[in-house]
Amino acid sequence: MDRSMNRKLYIETVGCQMNVLDSELVAGQLSAAGYQLVASPRQADTILFNTCSVRQHAEDKIYSALGRLKHIKRTHPGKIIGVLGCMAQKDREEIFRRAPHVDLVVGPGQLGRLPELLERVASGMGPQLEVSLGRRDGRRSEVQGSFRRYDPVRKPGVRARPHQAMVRIMFGCDKFCSFCIVPSVRGPEQSRPPEEIEAEVRQLADQGCLEVTLLGQTVNHYGATSGGRTVRLADLLYRIHDTEGIRRIRFVTNFPSFMTDELLQAVRDLPKVTPYLHVPAQSGSNRILRRMQRGYTVEAYREMLARVRQTVPEAAVTSDFIVGFPGETEEDFRETVRLVEESRFKNSFIFKYSPRTGTKAAERYADDVPDEVKRRRNNELLAVQNAISEQENLAFRGRTVEVLVEGPSKTGRKQDGPVVQLTGRTVCDRIVVFDSPRGLAGSIVPVRIYDTTAVTLFGRVVSVVGVEC
Ligand code: SAH
Ligand code: F3S
Repeated sequence: MDRSMNRKLYIETVGCQMNVLDSELVAGQLSAAGYQLVASPRQADTILFNTCSVRQHAEDKIYSALGRLKHIKRTHPGKIIGVLGCMAQKDREEIFRRAPHVDLVVGPGQLGRLPELLERVASGMGPQLEVSLGRRDGRRSEVQGSFRRYDPVRKPGVRARPHQAMVRIMFGCDKFCSFCIVPSVRGPEQSRPPEEIEAEVRQLADQGCLEVTLLGQTVNHYGATSGGRTVRLADLLYRIHDTEGIRRIRFVTNFPSFMTDELLQAVRDLPKVTPYLHVPAQSGSNRILRRMQRGYTVEAYREMLARVRQTVPEAAVTSDFIVGFPGETEEDFRETVRLVEESRFKNSFIFKYSPRTGTKAAERYADDVPDEVKRRRNNELLAVQNAISEQENLAFRGRTVEVLVEGPSKTGRKQDGPVVQLTGRTVCDRIVVFDSPRGLAGSIVPVRIYDTTAVTLFGRVVSVVGVEC
C-alpha cells in the first residue's frame, strides 16, 4: 500500500537560503509522492523541521518546538515528526535522546532518501537515522560521496514566490573558518556541473521564473570542468545569462579573497546580473581575523572593496559581522566599527559569537566576552550601520527604480480596495513598499520613490521609461 497518499505535510524551516531551498525541494518531492502541504503542525500528520546549527539560538528554537509537540505525539501517535538538515547531521542520536518522540533524523546529505525513510517509519520499522560521514570519518572522496546530491525536479507550486528561485551551484564548504560549523554539517565543497545548472535555470525560466539566485557557501569559489576547461563563476554567469525569460541573476555568498576582477567585470558587463554583492568581512581587526582563520587581512578586504567600487560603482555591498569573538577587545571592536563606517555597506548582518562544539574556535578559545558586552557591541554596530543605510537610501528619494514585485506588503493595512500595498525589490536588493493596482505580483515595474528609511523605500508605480538602479 502506498501510505504517502493523502498524507498531510507541514514543514518548518530555520536558517539560511540553502535551507529554504532544501525545504522547497523536499516539499516538491513529497508532494509528487502524494503528500499535501498544510499550513500548521495541527493539521499535519507529518511534521518536519529543517534545521540550522550556525548559532545556539537556532538550535534552542528547534528543541523547544519539538518539546511543544510531545503532547500532540502522545495524543496522536500516528503523527510522524522529523528533524532534517544541519542539526540532524550535528546532533544525530542526541536528538532522539533529548526528544524521544522524534521518529526521523535526516542530515542535509541524505534528503533524497526521505520518501523511503518516511515510509519505513509509517510501516512501523521504528525511528530512522540517516546522516553523512563526519569530515574526519573517511578519505575525502568517501566523505564527499556520503553527502549525496539532492537536485530533484523543481516544482513552481511549492515555491513561496513562483517568479523567484534559488539554484544551488555548490555544496559544502572547505574554508573552515574557526567559528563555523557549516563545513562539518554540509560536508566537502563540491561544484555542480555547469550543464546541470544551465538546464535547471532553463527549466525555471520555462516555469515563469524571472529571477534566479545562485547559491553556494563560497559561491565565488565555484569551479567545475567542462569540455576540458575550467568554468568559474564569471564563466557560469555568461553561460546562463541569455536564458530566455530570466531577467535577474544574483549570487550569494561571496568570500572576500575570491572576488576576482573577472567576476567583477562580469557583474559590470552582464545586464541581467544584479549589482548586489554579499561579501562578509566578519571583523575589522587583523588579530581577530587571524583567530577566525579567515585567511585575509582587513587591508586586503579594503583593497577588494576598492576594486568593487571602481569596477561596479553602483553596486550595493552587504556584509556579515561577528561581535564578541573570543579575545575581542574594545580596540578590536573599534576597528570593526571603523570598517563599517568607511565601507558604506547597504546593510550588515551582525551576530553575537556563539561557540559551536567541534569548531576550532570552541576547542581553542574560551567564550570570554560577556554576553552584555556582546549585546552592547551588537547594538552599537547596528546603530552605525543603520545610520549609513538611512543615508544611502535617502539618495533614492525622487528617483524611479525598477522593482520585481513580490506580493502584498505585511503592513496589516486592508488590502481589499482597487489599490493595494505591495512589496518588491530593486536590482540592488532594496525593499520597496508601494501602492499599485492589484495583480502585479511577478512583474517588473517602475516605481517612483517618495520616502525612505534605513530598510525600506516607499513609492508609487509610474509608467515612465528611464529607470535607475
Ligand atoms: N558562507 C555562509 C556562511 C554561513 S553562516 C553563507 O552562505 O552565508 C552565516 C553567517 O553566520 C556567517 O557569515 C557569520 O557571520 C555567522 N556565523 C557563523 N558561525 C557563527 C557563530 N559560531 N557565531 C555567531 N555567528 C556565526
Ligand atoms: Fe562558514 Fe567560513 Fe565556510 S563562514 S560556510 S566556514 S566560508
